Amino acid sequence: MNLGRLNHVGVATPSIEQSVATYRALLGADAIGEPFDLPAQGVRVCFVDAPNTQVELIEPLDDKSPIAGFIAKNPAGGQHHLCFEVPDIGEAVAELKAKGATILGEPRIGAHGTPIVFVHPRDFGGVLVELMEMPRSDH
Ligand code: CO
Repeated sequence: MNLGRLNHVGVATPSIEQSVATYRALLGADAIGEPFDLPAQGVRVCFVDAPNTQVELIEPLDDKSPIAGFIAKNPAGGQHHLCFEVPDIGEAVAELKAKGATILGEPRIGAHGTPIVFVHPRDFGGVLVELMEMPRSDH
């Protein structure tokens, strides 16, 4: 496996609307997508584009959301995960499992419409890592 591009930094927030306003006001962000719900993952998502990567703002859809606990511990929100691209999610999962890493759940379709999976933070010094299959240009 080779480390791929940093696709995005995941940032949990209690309010996407407020976070978007902050990125606009303080950093001059102007390429900001429309927020959308990912009910299967219990989150609302909005991407802020930087020239070399994206910030993925994630807000819990309800208190059963996987990030509801994070927001409870960090009421103002905070950095949640890093997402790296991999060529093939199945191969990445097999290789990481063989190396003893803990994969959280099964691969599923992520916010960019390609398969994603999360690796346990204890395997990365406390950082939650998302792996995302690169979109294929031949589709
Ligand atoms: Co993400």
